[in-house]
Amino acid sequence: MTHDLIVIGAGPGGYVAAIRAAQLGLNVACIEREPELGGTCLRVGCIPSKALLESSELYHEAGDGLKKHGVKIGKLELDLAAMLKRKDATVSALTKGVAGLFKKNNITRYEGTATFTGKGALKVEGKDNAELTAKHFIIATGSKPATIPGVELDGKRIGCSTEALSYDEVPEHLVVIGAGVIGLELGSVWLRLGSKVTVLEYMDHILPGLDSDLSKEAHKLFKKQGFDFHLGSKVTGAKSLKDKAVVSVDGMDDIECDQVLVATGRWANTDNLGLDAIGLETNKRGQIEVNEHFETAVEGVYAIGDVIPGLMLAHKAEDEGVACVEHIVTGVGHVNYDAIPGIVYTHPEIASVGKTEQELQTAGIEYNVGKFNFMANGRARALGDTAGWVKILADKQTDRVLGAHIIGPRAGDLIAECAVAIEFGASAEDIARSCHAHPTLAECVKEAALGVAGRTIHM
Ligand code: NAI
Repeated sequence: MTHDLIVIGAGPGGYVAAIRAAQLGLNVACIEREPELGGTCLRVGCIPSKALLESSELYHEAGDGLKKHGVKIGKLELDLAAMLKRKDATVSALTKGVAGLFKKNNITRYEGTATFTGKGALKVEGKDNAELTAKHFIIATGSKPATIPGVELDGKRIGCSTEALSYDEVPEHLVVIGAGVIGLELGSVWLRLGSKVTVLEYMDHILPGLDSDLSKEAHKLFKKQGFDFHLGSKVTGAKSLKDKAVVSVDGMDDIECDQVLVATGRWANTDNLGLDAIGLETNKRGQIEVNEHFETAVEGVYAIGDVIPGLMLAHKAEDEGVACVEHIVTGVGHVNYDAIPGIVYTHPEIASVGKTEQELQTAGIEYNVGKFNFMANGRARALGDTAGWVKILADKQTDRVLGAHIIGPRAGDLIAECAVAIEFGASAEDIARSCHAHPTLAECVKEAALGVAGRTIHM
């Protein structure tokens, strides 16, 4: 069987690339070894974690937060099985949706593992078995949880995000290794449901890579929520015993707990792809290097998403998939890496786009800062959700928006406006002079933009 394009992997990068290629008239196949389409993001990542974050936040609000709204409820009870079932139903609806999109776009789907057998050829083994050829291949095989020396994932008491999405009872004590995005999102879920959550982080701050103002504010707020943080802590081992797990940390007593969540980053999925057969090498981190058009060192073979260097984000992979396919078909395709937002779905949410203050300082770029607190916003007050702020960074000479950093209610939705501003090359004044409806949280973005020129109105 031959196709114009074969996409390996049906995560957000792969399935979106396949759909865009079909729209552009290519005969497309997509190979996925899991029975469900959608990849880690849909099956065991973004979607189920957001479902649980929503449910656990409602449970937490019902227990404590509703009182301030004058809403009293009787005895609060957790039905964890029902909560997990709703999460599974959310996932199932979306993975079926992707299967529907494949049908609508006439994409041929192979269920099995793809291995290159030589230039321009691969075999599929699994539920479907086939030998296929194509002119173009896109490797979009994603990533898997990274492990650390001395810590072996057993899937029972020591697991990764996949297990932490499905604990069948609320752990009395959960130890999270790594205060990155996964550790804090899933740590939040179980903290709200009643676990004691200890977070062991190697660095001296949480959420490395974020603007340091954000990371400091988040640390302060999350500590208040009850997270037990141990920064500068190097985990040296973890083992499962019969009815508990024990975690060893340099310079600390061993910690006993019920569950360990290892959230220390992810590794590119490039094993068993038969890259040798086409003469394609990975870098030291096991990733596939590409040029700006996502071409690998082998002609006709492209790679996108978590398998290539850069941020591991579903929406980055999607944009890369589209740009890669558009370049193949039209000769033009581009991703603006300065305008890719990143969101942490904790409460409050944390969202960022563009450069951090630290990056601007390192690059020697002069900038102005505008900042506005949610506390001074009418809608945030009405919601009863006032922690956090919006910060906008703009070039000192041109006023062009270079970065935006938000911690607060619905930060993940508010950041979209800032990403569009950066994409359009907007100035802070462009945002400040755009009418923002009242009363909305988005007014904080406008006020922060006004703040760049030192003229916020409400603060
Ligand atoms: P991460 O890279 O965000 O954080 C890992 C943390 O583990 C770091 O803070 C690191 O310093 C720490 N660490 C590493 N080794 C350690 C050790 N031996 N002892 C203690 N701490 C140690 O990785 P994470 O949270 O596992 O997420 C993986 C990827 O998935 C990230 O690239 C993330 O962007 C992505 N993701 C994105 C989400 C979102 O966009 N909302 C949600 C979940 C994951």
